Amino acid sequence: MSNKHLAILGGGNMGRALIGGMLRRGTRPEHITVGESSPAAREALSADFGVQSTADNAAAVEPASVIVVAVKPQMAGAVLAPLRPALLRARPVVISIAAGIRLAALESWCGAGVPVVRAMPNRPALVGAGATGLFAPASVAAEHREVAERVMQAVGEVIWVAAEDDLDVVTALSGSGPAYFFLLAELLTQGAIDLGLAPEAARRLAIATLHGAGQLAHSGDGDLARMRAEVTSKGGTTEAAVKAFEAADLRGSVARALEAAMRRSRELAAQFGAQ
Ligand SMILES: NC(=O)c1ccc[n+]([C@@H]2O[C@H](COP(=O)([O-])OP(=O)(O)OC[C@H]3O[C@@H](n4cnc5c(N)ncnc54)[C@H](OP(=O)(O)O)[C@@H]3O)[C@@H](O)[C@H]2O)c1
Repeated sequence: MSNKHLAILGGGNMGRALIGGMLRRGTRPEHITVGESSPAAREALSADFGVQSTADNAAAVEPASVIVVAVKPQMAGAVLAPLRPALLRARPVVISIAAGIRLAALESWCGAGVPVVRAMPNRPALVGAGATGLFAPASVAAEHREVAERVMQAVGEVIWVAAEDDLDVVTALSGSGPAYFFLLAELLTQGAIDLGLAPEAARRLAIATLHGAGQLAHSGDGDLARMRAEVTSKGGTTEAAVKAFEAADLRGSVARALEAAMRRSRELAAQFGAQ
């Protein structure tokens, strides 16, 4: 990656997270160019990261062998289509993180034969602890997949999925997932307040528990059921709580929630696809 030039189109939240991650991993600022329409955002990019930025996306992609599309989904077509002659000439790897924008649309904007990879990251990428699902069609070469993987690893863990439709499940799981854990932490906070704990103490304990459980799960062997069993002694407090969750059909609620998110992801993708 160190000798490749990276262009990021859209220097907002995700663009900035990727730049920060790439710099932390040893990419030099002069090897990153950002296409960004907002003058204030461009100023912040050079002040914070020392990277070059320009309002001219064609100039941003000109030196690049890797391009990340990090504008809002509804802007992706308007940003990529005018770059098509340049992309067809240089054939860089194009990585789109634009939620819901299908490969067929991306490929039609970029031009036939330009390798395109879709990535679905999540918000914890902003602190380098993201989870990204990646998909590329069979036509994308191994070396290009590897580049896409390394770029997205700059902001956290990366998992390849087997089919483009799987990205809707990724969206439902890890894309929306941080909100599920925040909701549970909110409910735990309120529950503890209702049981008499001071609000600030309840909030801090809930957040520290969310953080600690996440760290523990991440550092272990991935066996979530065993980790849960380790904090669930027979006849103990955790068992009493888990039984109450089961009685309220938490399993069914979670399954229905994921399905609703996946369905919504497909509906939104169909809307974008119609543009
Ligand atoms: N944030 C997340 O948690 C998350 C998670 C998964 C995927 N994503 C995807 O990541 C992408 C970026 O999201 P974000 O949260 O980083 O959005 P964002 O903060 O709004 O960043 C987008 C940036 O692109 C700029 N821009 C707009 N039009 C442009 C153009 N024609 N050329 C160059 N730059 C342009 C915007 O400037 P203005 O503000 O002036 O318009 C803004 O600075 C989206 O497609 C989203 O679906 C985000």
